[in-house]
Amino acid sequence: MRISAKNKICLIIGDPVEHSLSPLMHNAGYEALNIDDKFIYLGARVDLKDIKAVVCAMRAMSLRGLTCTIPHKVKVMRYLDKIDKTASKIGAVNSIVNDKGILKGYNTDWIGVVKPLEKVTALKGKKAAVLGAGGASRAVVYGLLAKGSKVTIFNRTVGNAAKLANDFNCGFGDLKDEAAVSDNDIIVNATAVGMAPNTEASPISSQLITNRHIVFDAVYIPYETKLLKKAKEKGATVIHGTEMLLHQGTAQFELYTGKPAPVDVMRKVLLKNLGVKL
Ligand SMILES: NC(=O)c1ccc[n+]([C@@H]2O[C@H](COP(=O)([O-])OP(=O)(O)OC[C@H]3O[C@@H](n4cnc5c(N)ncnc54)[C@H](OP(=O)(O)O)[C@@H]3O)[C@@H](O)[C@H]2O)c1
Repeated sequence: MRISAKNKICLIIGDPVEHSLSPLMHNAGYEALNIDDKFIYLGARVDLKDIKAVVCAMRAMSLRGLTCTIPHKVKVMRYLDKIDKTASKIGAVNSIVNDKGILKGYNTDWIGVVKPLEKVTALKGKKAAVLGAGGASRAVVYGLLAKGSKVTIFNRTVGNAAKLANDFNCGFGDLKDEAAVSDNDIIVNATAVGMAPNTEASPISSQLITNRHIVFDAVYIPYETKLLKKAKEKGATVIHGTEMLLHQGTAQFELYTGKPAPVDVMRKVLLKNLGVKL
């Protein structure tokens, strides 16, 4: 890294944030494009009560980009000058760009879902089960619907699935209804189930998964979740959570730098850091 007072600062904020791989991924991208003397990407732990102060600081210090992760994606919206249409529809912002003091919020999480899926299938007309009804699910549901899929949300707390389904005008059901889940072409896990340290957990038993399914897990630690391992054994097409992390990040890289992201370099650094043999 070539660091001086000239570098434009990009920052990821969250609570916690120390586990984030975004600084690694973005800084590797800056180096690959030889713009590491123009940008630097760091992380800061921010309590939710301090989010307004951080947005003020972004203006005062001319930070170029602010990435928001849990728990900031919704509350931050009220302090911005502009919100992109898609982020408004999703109801969350994960990327803020500072253009000469005007702060505009975007959401790139949905791109992280749609891009990897479109590499393996056309989404129009496909039936998709989204497991979970939290923040990540909102972006997943938006992306799939925007591409013409027929979406059903399955959740442990069915009332939360019903609320989300009402917002997006799609179907919902109980996560326990595995027959209904498997009656879809695509299954996306957007629950936290299977994430380290509970790596032996899976949101569904996988008994009804077959080789006609595409199974995408948003969880990326571990790289290969129990759900993906079982789905692979059944011959399903699997997509790892790292692809979502990568593509939401590359879209964000392009917003912050105005340059096409070096996707392969950024993927490599993620996989290497997660201990995946390349
Ligand atoms: N790859 C990426 O780039 C990326 C990006 C964003 C998020 N993610 C991952 O996506 C996951 C969800 O994140 P989020 O922000 O949406 O979290 P969230 O808002 O807290 O939502 C959590 C969801 O998981 C469900 N859930 C939690 N524990 C469960 C259990 N034991 N059994 C069944 N369902 C359970 C919750 O169901 P209830 O409604 O019943 O509580 C809820 O639907 C996390 O693992 C996160 O790391 C990945």
